[in-house]
Amino acid sequence: MDSSSVFANIVRAPEDAILGVTVAYNKDSSPDKLNLGVGAYRTEEGKPLVLKVVRRAEQMLVNDNSRVKEYLPIVGLADFNKLSAKLIFGADSPAIQENRVTTVQCLSGTGSLRVGAEFLARHYHQLTIYIPNPTWGNHTKIFGLAGLSVKAYRYYDPATRGLDFQGLLEDLGAAPSGSIVLLHACAHNPTGVDPTIEQWEQIRQLMRSKGLLPFFDSAYQGFASGNLDADAGSVRMFVADGGECLAAQSYAKNMGLYGERVGALSIVCKTADVASRVESQLKLVIRPMYSNPPIHGASIVATILKDRHISIYLNSIQKNDTMKEFLYSNEVLNNAHKDSGFIEINSTTGNIYSGMELQHVHYNICCIQKYIKNDFFDLLDPA
Ligand SMILES: Cc1ncc(COP(=O)(O)O)c(C=O)c1O
Repeated sequence: MDSSSVFANIVRAPEDAILGVTVAYNKDSSPDKLNLGVGAYRTEEGKPLVLKVVRRAEQMLVNDNSRVKEYLPIVGLADFNKLSAKLIFGADSPAIQENRVTTVQCLSGTGSLRVGAEFLARHYHQLTIYIPNPTWGNHTKIFGLAGLSVKAYRYYDPATRGLDFQGLLEDLGAAPSGSIVLLHACAHNPTGVDPTIEQWEQIRQLMRSKGLLPFFDSAYQGFASGNLDADAGSVRMFVADGGECLAAQSYAKNMGLYGERVGALSIVCKTADVASRVESQLKLVIRPMYSNPPIHGASIVATILKDRHISIYLNSIQKNDTMKEFLYSNEVLNNAHKDSGFIEINSTTGNIYSGMELQHVHYNICCIQKYIKNDFFDLLDPA
């Protein structure tokens, strides 16, 4: 009997708006089903795909008998942290050379955002964060539950299906000085609309003049322009001016490591001394949450980023024209287009913004198996 349970009064919570699509997909017995809920690499048969470069790295790790399963430090794998900072800020970043960056391994993009949010809620003087409207659905909850007050700034203009740049400037211009501003580093989710370089520069000038603190969310590095460096351009612009910022990185999408939960939070500070004090406090945030991060996924990423094949990896991402071709020719999407009257595949980012549901749903489809198979893995593994 329910009433005997101490939890009898618990109300059933709704499914998560995005992950709930996967739950519905798994329940559906139709042979024609296609999961558009979460962007993930798929084979031509629609099956989950593990990148060969990941399999290779895993093989190298398994064959290395010197590897053990001891706990990582609270901040994670040192190599992974260094390589992640280089990937986003650039190998020759003065901020890295001057030891002004602290990087901690976290549980993918979500965990990196949450650790950053908890740190800011404890130690930053302005507890308001501005997030774009619309944005990835989890942002509001991550920042709100960490104790920040979440406000929106205008971002997308449905009339032009482009950036509401004027609205964005007005809203950030009216934000109280010192406010935190969440910026999608590239391939904005869910719209696929990014500011141009010139617009980024204006955003940077406005934010710096008002002392607004940038918090970059980089979940799709490599997916917007097809070039990892170019996709980090927005972040690097804010680091080049010597100012401070936060950056959350996810390897879920660009290395297809979704379930491994690999990510990093970096905080760029004015001096090495501040960075080291910030890191000491990040440890206090992480320790009671999950003690220290898992070793496997971060080892895969570190192995790949260290490996000489990184250049091939970079090049493969640059070949995203084939990805676009594939997306455009996707029959299911074309049918969805007819049914819904509105589904848009962003021509540069491959992100898809749909009006099929009452609320906007993100269909960031990463069905890029064709270009991976043809151009990347054949090079890595010709046999
Ligand atoms: C904009 C954005 N940020 C962060 C994430 C976090 O993803 P994960 O926690 O799987 O790395 C996602 C995932 O879809 C996203 O779209």
